[in-house]
Amino acid sequence: MDVINDKSEAQILLDEQRRKNSKIILIPTMGNLHDGHLSLIELAREHADYVVVSIFINPTQFTDNKDFDNYPRTLESDIEKLSLANVSLLFLPDCSCIYPYGIDHAAKVIIPEMSNDLCGKVRPGHFEGVTSIVLRLFNIIKPDFSIFGQKDFQQKLLIEWMTTDLSLGINIIGAPIIREDNGLAMSSRNQHLSSTAKLTAAKLYETLIEASGSIRDRKIGFASIQRETEERLIGYGFFVDYISIRSSIDLSIPDKDAKKLIILASVIIEDVRLIDNIIIG
Ligand code: PAF
Repeated sequence: MDVINDKSEAQILLDEQRRKNSKIILIPTMGNLHDGHLSLIELAREHADYVVVSIFINPTQFTDNKDFDNYPRTLESDIEKLSLANVSLLFLPDCSCIYPYGIDHAAKVIIPEMSNDLCGKVRPGHFEGVTSIVLRLFNIIKPDFSIFGQKDFQQKLLIEWMTTDLSLGINIIGAPIIREDNGLAMSSRNQHLSSTAKLTAAKLYETLIEASGSIRDRKIGFASIQRETEERLIGYGFFVDYISIRSSIDLSIPDKDAKKLIILASVIIEDVRLIDNIIIG
């Protein structure tokens, strides 16, 4: 595995691959890699010959400086995992490589409405930071494909939106959510949970499964399902940012006969924000 910090050096290797007609796939990450990330690498191999993983803890998507400072930095073990997984290139830029004019003078990608809904409402500015960094990475690596996990469903949808809207010509692949044995969706944040909170956290998925059953049954309306689900989550001890049934096509509010749906939740336990979702239909 090549480990490269400099964008021009990375581009020399990537151009070489293009000359050989290799398909290039990019998996953007912020490091602290777990089995969920490793599953993205496996999926990547089904689509492309040359797998690039980037690790960059992007300051502009953090809405809280403390959160940025506390973000786990585990570079040594990340490099070990990636080289065992036979990744072709680890791109490890620093802030001046990504934001040459500095963060305060950086160009931004803003997708109105969808960026400010759901997770964007509870973390204002977060998605602006995400779309902006992903476009920068796309422009440096120029991949044929890129992969985003379905756990961050709104993020994945925004990246697809940006890719289509700006005609980037990159295929975006959605990867299934990887869960712990108890159902908790894998996330770098899980390590901040105490063992008691981990048990409670598993109730999130259990509750979403029950709610998705009620959505399929259609015996009660979406508003009642949302209210009951929220009450149940509060009863378990979660603070609920939101619980929402939406169209899985564009996250709009669905009418009662809509078929392609998703139930999404963001909750907080022990100061740790957890998100999860289930796609229905
Ligand atoms: O999902 C993440 O880890 C980040 O939001 C991403 C896509 C790597 C952008 O920094």
